[in-house]
Amino acid sequence: MTRATEFVRACSLSDVPEQGTFGVEVNGTSLVIIRSAGEVFALDEFCTHEDVSLVDGEIYDHTVECWLHGSCFDVRTGKPTGPPATRPLSTYQVRVDGDDVYVAVPAMT
Ligand code: FES
Repeated sequence: MTRATEFVRACSLSDVPEQGTFGVEVNGTSLVIIRSAGEVFALDEFCTHEDVSLVDGEIYDHTVECWLHGSCFDVRTGKPTGPPATRPLSTYQVRVDGDDVYVAVPAMT
């Protein structure tokens, strides 16, 4: 079995509020799509601290902050920038074409 990565349409750009989030599943992976500072990012949906959905997180600068214990992650890299989380989120390439947001998530083939 091989893993192929291709861009898959995830949502409409208009689904994602400015400085906000939108939850979506692509190729069986739960993602949070984030708009921050005019850019669009895709990361794993769940906080690496205790599996809480970051769709309910707060967005500022290039940061998503988990609502439960305040872990912060850089939306560009997925790296934790504030405790208690220590493990990074996976990030995925994003392509925006008009109102369509495409994300590259590995798929089983
Ligand atoms: S579950 Fe996210 S910071 Fe604890």
